[in-house]
Amino acid sequence: MDYFRFPEQRKSWGGPLNGQEKRQALVAKLFKELPIKAVIETGTFRGTTTEYFAKLTQVPIYTVEANQRLYGFSWIRLKKFHNVRLLQMDSRAALRLLTQDGVFPKSGVFFYLDAHWGQDLPLAEELQQIFANWQKSWVYIDDFKIEDDAGYGYDDYGSGKSLTLEYISEIVKTYQISVFYPAASSEEETGARRGSVLLANDPALISELRAIDLLRAYPSQRVGDPS
Ligand SMILES: C[S@@+](CC[C@H](N)C(=O)[O-])C[C@H]1O[C@@H](n2cnc3c(N)ncnc32)[C@H](O)[C@@H]1O
Repeated sequence: MDYFRFPEQRKSWGGPLNGQEKRQALVAKLFKELPIKAVIETGTFRGTTTEYFAKLTQVPIYTVEANQRLYGFSWIRLKKFHNVRLLQMDSRAALRLLTQDGVFPKSGVFFYLDAHWGQDLPLAEELQQIFANWQKSWVYIDDFKIEDDAGYGYDDYGSGKSLTLEYISEIVKTYQISVFYPAASSEEETGARRGSVLLANDPALISELRAIDLLRAYPSQRVGDPS
C-alpha cells in the first residue's frame, strides 16, 4: 500500500546509495570491472539501492529486510527484476541460509552491508559469517567512519557499537583484511555524505582494487607493502 500511497518514499535518502553521486559512480565501476557472480544486500529498506544494483547487473541479487512493511514495499517495487530475490528475515539468518545453500556461489560475491538501524547491530556477526564462509569476495559497508575525513557521517549506537575500524579490528586482524575508502573527499561528494568502507582479503582482489582510481587504500602504506 505504502508503495502506491507515498511514491516520494521510493527515493529514500535522496536516491540510491544515499543519493551520493561519487558513491554511485564508484559502485557502477566496481560492478563493471570486478568478476562479480552474485550480490547480497543486508537492509533493503525501500529497495532504492537494490533497484540501482538491479539496473547495473544481471547477476543474482539477494536482499534481506527484517521489517515486514518495508519488505512489502520493496517486494512490489522489485518484482519486475527477475534477478532480485527478496528475503524477509534477520540478516544473520539470511547469511546462514546462503552459507548452507549448495547452489549459491561461495566466491565472487559482492556484499553490501546496510542493516544497521539501532541497538541490535548485526555487523560484526555478518562479517564473521562472510569471511568464514566466502572466499575471493568483497564487502562494502555503508555508514562507516572515514578516519581522516570528518565531513563524512557514520553510525554510532553507543559504546562498542559505532561503525569504525576499531569495531571491526579483530575481524580485520583474524582474516588479514585490507581496507579501502572512496577516493572522493566528503567535499566532493553529494547527497547524505555517509562514509563507507570496502574490505577484501584475497591478494589478487586486493591488487585489482589498488588499481581502481575511485578507491584509496587505508592506511595508504602498510608495513610489508611494496613501495
Ligand atoms: C539504512 S536502512 C537500509 C537502506 C538501503 N540499503 C538503501 O540503501 O536504501 C537499514 C534497514 O535495515 C533493516 N534492518 C535492521 N536490522 C536488520 C537485520 N538484523 N536484518 C535485516 N534487516 C535489518 C531496517 O529495517 C532498515 O530497513
